[in-house]
Amino acid sequence: MASIYIDEDVGRDDPAATGAESAPYKTLVYALLQHAPGEGTQYLTRKSQTEPTDKDADPASKLEWKPATKSAMKKATTLCEQRKKKAAKEQELAIREKQEAEKRKLVLEEAKKVVIKEDPSLPKPVKIRLDVTDPEVVTLRTPESETPGTRVRVLGRVHRLRAQKDVIFITLTDGYGYLQCILAGDLVKTYDAMTLTLETSLAIHGEMRAVPPKQHAPNDRELHADFFTVIGRAAGDKEAITTRVAHDADPQTLMDNRHLVLRGETASSVMKVRAAVLRAFRKTFEANRMLEVTPPAMVQTQVEGGSTLFGFDYYGENAYLTQSSQLYLETCLPSLGDVFCICPSFRAEKSLTRRHLSEYTHIEAELDFITFDDLLDHLEEVICRVIDLTLADPAVASAIKHLNPDFKVPSRPFKRMRYSDAIQWLVEHEIPNEEGNPHQFGDDIAEAAERRMTDIINQPIFLTHFPAEIKAFYMKKDPQDRRVTESVDVLMPGVGEIVGGSMRMDDWDELMAAYQHEGMDPKPYYWYTDQRKYGTSPHGGYGLGLERFLAWMCARYTVRECCLYPRFTGRCTP
Ligand code: 4AD
Repeated sequence: MASIYIDEDVGRDDPAATGAESAPYKTLVYALLQHAPGEGTQYLTRKSQTEPTDKDADPASKLEWKPATKSAMKKATTLCEQRKKKAAKEQELAIREKQEAEKRKLVLEEAKKVVIKEDPSLPKPVKIRLDVTDPEVVTLRTPESETPGTRVRVLGRVHRLRAQKDVIFITLTDGYGYLQCILAGDLVKTYDAMTLTLETSLAIHGEMRAVPPKQHAPNDRELHADFFTVIGRAAGDKEAITTRVAHDADPQTLMDNRHLVLRGETASSVMKVRAAVLRAFRKTFEANRMLEVTPPAMVQTQVEGGSTLFGFDYYGENAYLTQSSQLYLETCLPSLGDVFCICPSFRAEKSLTRRHLSEYTHIEAELDFITFDDLLDHLEEVICRVIDLTLADPAVASAIKHLNPDFKVPSRPFKRMRYSDAIQWLVEHEIPNEEGNPHQFGDDIAEAAERRMTDIINQPIFLTHFPAEIKAFYMKKDPQDRRVTESVDVLMPGVGEIVGGSMRMDDWDELMAAYQHEGMDPKPYYWYTDQRKYGTSPHGGYGLGLERFLAWMCARYTVRECCLYPRFTGRCTP
């Protein structure tokens, strides 16, 4: 009788085992796969190392070989059959894949022989960007017309790709627009067409036509290609862009691949709106006769408290990345008039929230010889003008509609609410402070409470007159109530605070006292303090976080989606 040995402890399921007593297998399934049951074959099993579970069992019994039980045999036979079936299927699939790969290789070899040439008798193509629709430049052949459309040359990357048997539909993009391009005839038989991947860069020549009725394409037109060349191939298969940045990828992967995410329609639309908003701010400031300046990013003073300063070694001295250019803007007023800057500000924010970045684009303005009311009126005017100018560009308006279908231009005048009234409102609406207690005068209204209030009120709010104790050292006190400052935060639904502003302390003695109160050494601030020594004036200004403004306008969940390469705790790449 042939005996096959299985030792569950020291046996092996690999070619080193033979099933002999001196080289047993580890599992019964493996043993059955190697030696199918036959007349007189017996399978002997044991556990040579592990203790028997039965405490009273004779220790020697674990060294004894015992025939596999009926139930163990039955279970192992079933598993054995399943594995055999699976292996057969895998083998079949591998053969089929190999055959297909070989067939495709042959087809591709044939395709390499198909060489396309541009027909010299065709009109010279006009090079256009994909958003050009001017009829002086591009005419379309209509279905009923015999007149040819303009022959164009377009350059861009494959944004969408749909290959049918004899025709390939490509949506090409060049960053300016999208164009449907159709390859047919010999063009689709080429190696380049058969191996085309998303993001490949191409030059395509062909005739512009109107899309047939009931069909849709960007700008209702399509390019019927007569010639194309590949400029730069894009990786396919496992390296394809859709694999690198799959729709369901986790946020970490998307951030690591931000450079590829930016090629998507949503991310690139936000960047286009961003550029339009920046343009609108500059236009608005210019219309107000405000001058753009560019203060330094490397500084030796703080503006908004020490806790969020990024420090670094500056030729052996302590220096910081600026939190705000406000103090520098104030120094410009006497000689330049009202000023603004659009520069990065840096905050070492330790918390990971959806509205905090470590580096953000700060739009700051400073106005001379004004009252607090002037400041609020100016802010409302600027915000509304920027919204109007941004929406005046049809392409940008359409991007916003796409990103934020519910966007409505806020109605004026904006709601103005004093801090003390907000505290009362929060108490009445049972929205507690961070300790879970009812809000009290003097509390810093935390992000969550602020957002809830803004969302419920659901319109822009100018929240004014914050207590001096919770605001920055430079803020001017309200002459009517010296517990509070002439300060304003602009709150927007969905985001919360997007602007912080105030009138500035313009009295030398008061500012000196403020430094002392805050425990700040006035020495490094001598140039700031000097403004109060050489012709002081009532003045004020504000800072607006561009990414927060965009998160509101484009209905983005986080400010991280509103800048090119976000910087936040733990992320400085790419
Ligand atoms: O309220 P903040 O801290 O005010 C200032 O810095 C003033 N010195 C500005 C001035 O008066 N010139 O910041 C102003 C705005 C905030 O309302 C917010 O929109 C944005 O800057 N902001 C941030 N945005 C993204 N990430 C952060 N960590 C931000 N911190 C502030």
